Amino acid sequence: MPEPVVEKTCEALCRSLVAHNGLQPESADISRSVVYTSLMGLLLVADKKADIPLGSGQVGLRNIGNTCFLNAVVQCLSHTRGLRDYCLTKAYLQEKHSKQEPVLMNAFTHVLSGLWDVQGQDCVNPGRFYSAFKDAVPYFSGYSQQDAQEFLRFLLDRLHTEINRRPAKCPPSETTETKHKTIRLAEQAAAMWKKHLERDDSRIVDLFSGQLRSSLHCSVCSHYSNTFDVFCDLSLPIPKRSGDTVSLKECLDLFSQVEKLDAENAPLCERCRRRTESTKRLTIQRFPKVIVIHLNRFTTSRYSISKSTVCVTFPINHLDLGPYGPVDCGPVLYKLYAVCYHSGTVNMGHYTACCRDEDGWWYYNDSSVQQVPEDQLQSSQAYVLFYQLDSNAIRK
Ligand SMILES: *[C@@H]1O[C@H](CO)[C@@H](O)[C@H](O)[C@H]1NC(C)=O
Ligand SMILES: [Zn+2]
Repeated sequence: MPEPVVEKTCEALCRSLVAHNGLQPESADISRSVVYTSLMGLLLVADKKADIPLGSGQVGLRNIGNTCFLNAVVQCLSHTRGLRDYCLTKAYLQEKHSKQEPVLMNAFTHVLSGLWDVQGQDCVNPGRFYSAFKDAVPYFSGYSQQDAQEFLRFLLDRLHTEINRRPAKCPPSETTETKHKTIRLAEQAAAMWKKHLERDDSRIVDLFSGQLRSSLHCSVCSHYSNTFDVFCDLSLPIPKRSGDTVSLKECLDLFSQVEKLDAENAPLCERCRRRTESTKRLTIQRFPKVIVIHLNRFTTSRYSISKSTVCVTFPINHLDLGPYGPVDCGPVLYKLYAVCYHSGTVNMGHYTACCRDEDGWWYYNDSSVQQVPEDQLQSSQAYVLFYQLDSNAIRK
């Protein structure tokens, strides 16, 4: 085996582990041979997994009565490789902690098996899966059309619960009260993340979960404090402007901009021990492998919901989220692989999806599937964007 290639692969993997698994570079100083052996092991396992026979995935889903929201989201998830392969190999049966039958996960896997069937089915009926979902989330039982983003959140949450590697009732671990000591931010974030994984650890978490940091700065005493929250998608506000096009970057900037809080609306300052005029800023502390970006087009006012039809342009191959991460984290590049669209009005809408495979982009409109040129992805109907961390693009 030509060694330089392996060395290069291992190095790239190591760097990506260091950059994205919250390891501090100084603690990643393990001997080369150990790294080599374990990484080669991982590579072999990964190769074996990719061996399942697959069809093209260019298969539609039947609309069984206002289910376009479900069909569009399922197509996007079906093109999330780490999730698809985990389902199709039934790896979750080995990993999950609960003894209960993973009813929803099995039904979801059944749909994916149809979509990726080597024989190439015409169209898959998601009926059984939808019933299992409504049993798990009775809130969705109504007949009216549902919101795709809401559906996605509930679905990932329920799937996670079924395939959690941790027991359902896990005593909260003793937190050493470090709040008032000056510990490093990264350590504090890593401790919070570890605590999260003690209760919630699944393939869903491996893929979709990241960590948001909210930093609060008191304008009276200049004290900084941080809170860390797990997120499974970023819900971005769309800037209100007179023009009819904004960029995803402008939405991200708005999401992450410094926000002034007056004394009534601010949380307690830890040092002043009262509410003070403060500023708050949100940043991404830990980047997920897959980032789901929700363009928040629907605004709920007192009496109604309105929809923004502003066209939000988004990068396809190089979305750099580095500027919204920890200071000096360098570029963090993501590649788009699926988009969920919403057309029409709040009450009379239709959901569709575009997903990428080796042959290009495909447009999924319920049971119909058509190839679509990449330059037609941008539209004022784009609603949820699915990006995958581009591990080949990690530099530094
Ligand atoms: C999606 O399919 C429906 C009917 O099945 C059709 O009316 C609609 O025009 C299609 N949308 C697009 C954008 O192709
Ligand atoms: Zn203060």
